Amino acid sequence: MSVRAEFDDWATSGKDRGMEDRHWHTAKHVLARMPIEEDDVVVDLGTGSGYALRALRERGIDRGYGLDGAPEMARNARGYTDDEDVAFLVGDFDTLPFADDAVDHVSTMEAFYYAADPHRTLREVRRVLKPGGTFYCAVNYFAESESTHGWQEHISVDMTLWSRAEYREAFREAGLAVAEQDTIPDREIHIPPVDAFPTDDWESREAMVDRYRTWGTLLTVGVAP
Ligand SMILES: C[S@@+](CC[C@H](N)C(=O)[O-])C[C@H]1O[C@@H](n2cnc3c(N)ncnc32)[C@H](O)[C@@H]1O
Repeated sequence: MSVRAEFDDWATSGKDRGMEDRHWHTAKHVLARMPIEEDDVVVDLGTGSGYALRALRERGIDRGYGLDGAPEMARNARGYTDDEDVAFLVGDFDTLPFADDAVDHVSTMEAFYYAADPHRTLREVRRVLKPGGTFYCAVNYFAESESTHGWQEHISVDMTLWSRAEYREAFREAGLAVAEQDTIPDREIHIPPVDAFPTDDWESREAMVDRYRTWGTLLTVGVAP
């Protein structure tokens, strides 16, 4: 199934706002680390409901572009803000619709692993970033976080499962220096006591703790030379 078919359905059934609520637990910490300045242009890849750009606009960026492969996601995102300095575009990670050296920062929250060719996406990010521009890439599906590996069975789009080292290596191959890599735990999600398991979503408390508190979201930060 295509990205469009999978995620249009999520958008029309309201899952975009649910994702926003859950992802915000860690995404807010990622966004807080971005070294943005007032006249910056930021692109958010796989923007979903567009919450990242709404938050960055509150911090004063000049302009934001949210790219998403699912038209219904982009349509919903447009409906959640009347800010004319944020634009939502339908497009694919393979070919970013921006000129060379045009963008100050690129962010992506829980979306990069859906790229059909992640190496190509990284080269595209490198191409559009200005010298010194940064790429904040946050993923909660990665090799060390073993309790997330089953997600692929529930999603029709092929997902990339890289380790922390593979992220660093791929960034460097694409010409991005790795400035930081960290895991950001989700300390807000409620984890029930041990006798509540198994739940609908989790076999054991241990697996849920591993997913949210031990590993959380992997952040890799690249800088364009
Ligand atoms: C799991 S959602 C995350 C949305 C949002 N960033 C968040 O944190 O809630 C992934 C988003 O990436 C988009 N996406 C997935 N693959 C894509 C691709 N190859 N090109 C563009 N967008 C893509 C999907 O349509 C979806 O809106």
